[in-house]
Amino acid sequence: MAQQVKAVIARAKGASVEVTTIVVPDPGPGEAVVRIQACGVCHTDLHYREGGINDEFPFLLGHEAAGIVESVGEGVTEVGPGDFVVLNWRAVCGQCRACKRGRPQYCFATHNAKQKMTLLDGTELSPALGIGAFAEKTLVAAGQCTKVDPAAEPAVAGLLGCGVMAGIGAAINTGGVGRGDSVAVIGCGGVGGAAVLGSRLAGAAKIIAVDIDDRKLAGAQKLGATHVVNSRTTDPVEAIRALTDGNGADVVVEAVGRPETYTQAFYARDLAGTVVLVGVPTPEMKLELPLLDVFGRGGALKSSWYGDCLPSRDFPMLIDLYLQGRLDLGAFVTETIELDGVEQAFARMHEGDVLRSVVVL
Ligand code: APR
Ligand code: ZN
Ligand code: ZN
Repeated sequence: MAQQVKAVIARAKGASVEVTTIVVPDPGPGEAVVRIQACGVCHTDLHYREGGINDEFPFLLGHEAAGIVESVGEGVTEVGPGDFVVLNWRAVCGQCRACKRGRPQYCFATHNAKQKMTLLDGTELSPALGIGAFAEKTLVAAGQCTKVDPAAEPAVAGLLGCGVMAGIGAAINTGGVGRGDSVAVIGCGGVGGAAVLGSRLAGAAKIIAVDIDDRKLAGAQKLGATHVVNSRTTDPVEAIRALTDGNGADVVVEAVGRPETYTQAFYARDLAGTVVLVGVPTPEMKLELPLLDVFGRGGALKSSWYGDCLPSRDFPMLIDLYLQGRLDLGAFVTETIELDGVEQAFARMHEGDVLRSVVVL
């Protein structure tokens, strides 16, 4: 039977989010209902409510979540009731041209639930990134549920569902950071901080954290940065070159999403080095670079969506490393809040003292 649960929705562009009652249908074929235990507050949730993603209001917000599978629909074998799962927005289809080329991490036709969750009056909700997890329960495609070790704290595990995975993956999957590499990370919020952590995990020898906020630089040091540069007071390109024998870093991760910081990343990498853009720009932003420099400096200019992750491969592995004390995922949980604290958490994002606020249910 369809259930009524509490959830956070964005009803109209720019309006404050509200806690309301929604209707979650029973899972149909290939679907699962998940009882949410924790869900992090991400910039993308704020972009949805500001109308920056599309106009399909009302949105059911929240997408960095962990919980327990309550029920599954017909034909679902990969997860079952009672499983502890992290929700992902890359349930690979196995059929599209990316999947067929053996590159499921780029899947172009990822699955979401077919049925719609609704308001009490029947209005259909658009779940953020096909998840919608600021809710006591949500309906997703079964492939969006990735089983991980239930010993992990839900508030920590859920963060792997988006921003933290994006940052770790930007370094190790997209950037290919390896043992002995020099890495610079520009912008050390939740995503950039995770890129620092991922670089340490991969054995990078030098990890240079760049930010305009000293609090973020102190945080990055705890996550494994070997050097820090405040780019408000110091030219980051010169500083990164000076720290790498005048050459630039092997891999530079741009985790801000602005033309100025991208240009810094471009010039702060060594010849034949790699730039990874994981920060998300806005539609009006333009990049201008001498084409000769693009050619002459060689190497690779890459973008990283969701850290090029494959949830089934990456989530359980990263959770295991966390449980072994080898990956400090706990550092990203700055505060835990309740469902009615999401609007305030959006405000706190701008104050800069939060890596992640996490709703715990
Ligand atoms: N130079 C260096 N650092 C900067 C600059 C700049 N010009 N402008 C902002 N920053 C820093 C901020 O001080 C902050 O530490 O970038 C960091 C951004 O972090 P958060 O606001 O926590 O954002 P985060 O969740 O890490 O996401 C980063 O990725 O997912 C996208 O939309 C997201 O574009 C954003 C980016
Ligand atoms: Zn596919
Ligand atoms: Zn997110």
